[in-house]
Amino acid sequence: NEIYLNGLGGVVPSYPMAFAELEDRASSALPPSVWSYVAGGAGDERTQRANVTAFDHWGLVPRMFVGAAERDLSVDLFGMRLPSPVFMAPIGVIGLCAQDGHGDLATARAAARTGVPMVASTLTVDPLEEVAGEFGDTPGLFQLYTPTDRDLAASLVHRAEQAGYKGIVVTLDTWVTGWRPRDLSTANFPQLRGHCLANYTSDPVFRARLARTPEEDPQSAVLLWTQLFGNPLTWDDLPWLRSLTDLPLIVKGICHPEDVRRAKDGGVDGVYCSNHGGRQANGGLPALDALPAVVEAADGLPVLFDSGIRSGADIVKAIALGATAVGIGRPYAYGLALGGTDGIVHVLRSLLAEADLIMAVDGYPTLPDLTREALQRVV
Ligand code: FNR
Repeated sequence: NEIYLNGLGGVVPSYPMAFAELEDRASSALPPSVWSYVAGGAGDERTQRANVTAFDHWGLVPRMFVGAAERDLSVDLFGMRLPSPVFMAPIGVIGLCAQDGHGDLATARAAARTGVPMVASTLTVDPLEEVAGEFGDTPGLFQLYTPTDRDLAASLVHRAEQAGYKGIVVTLDTWVTGWRPRDLSTANFPQLRGHCLANYTSDPVFRARLARTPEEDPQSAVLLWTQLFGNPLTWDDLPWLRSLTDLPLIVKGICHPEDVRRAKDGGVDGVYCSNHGGRQANGGLPALDALPAVVEAADGLPVLFDSGIRSGADIVKAIALGATAVGIGRPYAYGLALGGTDGIVHVLRSLLAEADLIMAVDGYPTLPDLTREALQRVV
């Protein structure tokens, strides 16, 4: 309404309304190395593109005479009442997308302003306590990259609990970094330059280990981080992960129904269907195509979803395919690049406004109305 009313007065929005323009302007606004890190993906980026085009294969069937004058997009998730089924997916280098280099804080402020939760990455520029300090009344989740040092993992989770995070998302698909030609060809690895390691360098367990390494090497924190970062977990580790916290535990990167069943047996509170936006492995199934089988196997357990959401229509389709909540990834990073917190707020509100209007026009006023029957496969 605000944008329409401003338009009547001839006021043009300050930020792009279409994703293509948002992406284009972000590519000019960000330093080339940050742009290539955020926009790039694995291999020739076929899976990354397929994540987006997968949405073209589904169409919502409009219903009339529904009287959808009021819509309700609110959802209960892990005991949180959220205004919409949307959250901000964890983005490790989001800190670097802000002009002042503190994009994690800007993102947390956007969460406070919109009620859209942020999943704060392990790889932030500012420590998780400072990020949580900007959440306002909006709940936040903490995403864990599980280090090989179990004490360090426990410490990170404990700190997240203390800081008031409402859930722990453990990412399983990134214990090793994918083959990303854009970054490989320019030796573009932000973490190796010591960015985004604040949660480690502020951690007592990490610092104790650092104190035992040779002092003279200024890169010693980065070296220690590289030794500790990647933990190829197995199902045998799930009971240990579960024992780390009483907070809701969600496992990210789950695309196979058998993995859903095992995760459920292991006592997780939710599964997160995602292929990391096509950044980790090329040649894979678009995440959206994995979603229906994940939802079926989850059998009522909440299913979070991301990878390829670029519009309000995409949100609606993912919900209709059974996602409980949908993660926005690159689009909010681009909003941040263009306008800090204001830019993210614009992107989130635009996505939600479009989703809301589609639910109005197509006659699906509530989320439970958006079932699999609302969609038809378009080949
Ligand atoms: C990510 N993603 C990610 N995931 C995670 O669990 N921890 C992290 O630190 C990061 N870091 C990260 C950095 C960048 C630059 C991007 C683009 C993505 C993956 C993210 O949570 C999500 O799965 C994808 O962004 C979804 O794909 P789209 O919709 O952004 O294409």
